[in-house]
Amino acid sequence: MAETAWWVDRTVYQIYPRSFQDSNGDGVGDIPGIIARLDHLQWLGIGLIWLSPVFRSPMEDNGYDISDYRDIAPEFGTLADMDRLIAEADARGIGIVMDLVVNHTSAQHPWFLEARRSREAATRDFYIWRDPAPNGGPPDGRRSVFGGPAWEFSSATGQYFFHVFAPGQPDLNWTNPAMRAEIHAMMRWWLDRGIRGFRMDVIDLIGKDVDAGILEAGPTLHPHLQEMHREVLAGRKTVTVGETWSVTPETALLYCGRDRGELSMVFQFQHITHGWHPEHGKWVAEPFDVRAFKRIWNRWQAALAEDGWNALYLSNHDLARQVSRFGDAGRYRVTSAKALATVMHLMRGTPFVYQGEEIGMTNAGFERLEQFRDLETLNLHAERRAAGVSTEEFLRGANANGRDNARTPMQWDASPQAGFTTGEPWIRVNRNFREINVAAAREDDTSVLHHYRRLVALRREHPVIVRGRYVPYLEDHATIFAFERVLDGTRLAVVANLGGAPAEAEAPALAGEGRCLLASHEPRGRLEPRLRLAPWESFALLGASPPG
Ligand code: GLC
Ligand code: CA
Repeated sequence: MAETAWWVDRTVYQIYPRSFQDSNGDGVGDIPGIIARLDHLQWLGIGLIWLSPVFRSPMEDNGYDISDYRDIAPEFGTLADMDRLIAEADARGIGIVMDLVVNHTSAQHPWFLEARRSREAATRDFYIWRDPAPNGGPPDGRRSVFGGPAWEFSSATGQYFFHVFAPGQPDLNWTNPAMRAEIHAMMRWWLDRGIRGFRMDVIDLIGKDVDAGILEAGPTLHPHLQEMHREVLAGRKTVTVGETWSVTPETALLYCGRDRGELSMVFQFQHITHGWHPEHGKWVAEPFDVRAFKRIWNRWQAALAEDGWNALYLSNHDLARQVSRFGDAGRYRVTSAKALATVMHLMRGTPFVYQGEEIGMTNAGFERLEQFRDLETLNLHAERRAAGVSTEEFLRGANANGRDNARTPMQWDASPQAGFTTGEPWIRVNRNFREINVAAAREDDTSVLHHYRRLVALRREHPVIVRGRYVPYLEDHATIFAFERVLDGTRLAVVANLGGAPAEAEAPALAGEGRCLLASHEPRGRLEPRLRLAPWESFALLGASPPG
């Protein structure tokens, strides 16, 4: 059961290796760089690292296109470096969770290179091939996520192959048991090297039925996950989290219910996509709607109250920086970053911190298209231009929600290139690095970084944070996010004003005395029936639960 699992009081930290720390001056982050920075994570109290892909890859999608699952990309290091990372992290009480990217491989994977050569190839059926439409065009009109058709013609055999993402990322055929056995063996091979689990990339796509037009949560998804659990995970000390853009509170327990034998938890995206434009998606950002945000999280907390487990996050390598998207990257950067962290870390579930979030890093603020690196952004720009959208307009969208916002180098200190590299970084460092960096934040006890460190430590100290029941308050208030966690005789009141104006509300049920565990402003020792909050103020108060 999740609430007693070995990983349950740990905070997870996501590393995007390309942008974390460069060790050799080539401008690209690498594994020796990560090892050199493990002390930062230990100081922060982190218990698990989710490592974005470091496998051998042509890097069309920065490693989410793998050409060898059992080797490390040379620009990131060697297998020996990876073994050293596992050992060095372990010595600091940190487990490594690797990214499992098995909806697709790279088109450079030997399986695909062989498959495309002939219809008789041993690995032909590892991928999804279909005949052309009667007119010679693609089998159907489906579009890929990164732009262009979802089918690519392969002239050697006269068939099309299917790719949800870029043509360089052909989808694996999960109906093929031989292919599945290869994946299972590869997963065991990594677990045997000492990693502690997997974050599973777009895993809700592996049950797809292409001919029926079903991609997400297809008919064979759960059988495949159960088989994977049986073949790989059962009986081992692991933790797993699935990336599932399609999951809802109604379907979540199918993945992480205690009797399912599938995953530990899933990333849901409702709080992310809610803020996207109905037609233009993330490229036209809607303003942050706090009420809807609360409604979504409260629903998830209720849905997984008795069974399953929530993954709590606002940021990752595909999303805008949370302080820019949900907070205020200007005047209230520090307090808004704290408020968001307070509510995320103190709900029931496992918090995931994305690199740089712990110092309140902001969106990239690029001025020109040439500064972007992400293939999704660049492909979509070409498509949007053709559809008549101006580059200026596109830049606004890309600067609000494009994936490169999260991929600018980690800001370690005020030295050139923010201490990330001694060379030319592969993507531009954010201009604000002299003000926002780890070294400066370490020196300042009121920094976002120290706030995160407290939150991470509180989770280890107070069982109510891990196991307490979740009780929402003020659900209809426009900006106040308030809830209580209750365990045995203890209650933890968590209150945050997610807005840039002062806020007030009647909340007699929350009133009472307590010990302030954490506060963005003056610590409080009691709550009055009428709550009064400064802009972006947040705090957590530990008290005794009222009798009855
Ligand atoms: C996931 C990854 C993203 C990648 C895509 C294809 O959404 O998080 O970075 O581009 O899958 O693998
Ligand atoms: Ca490097």
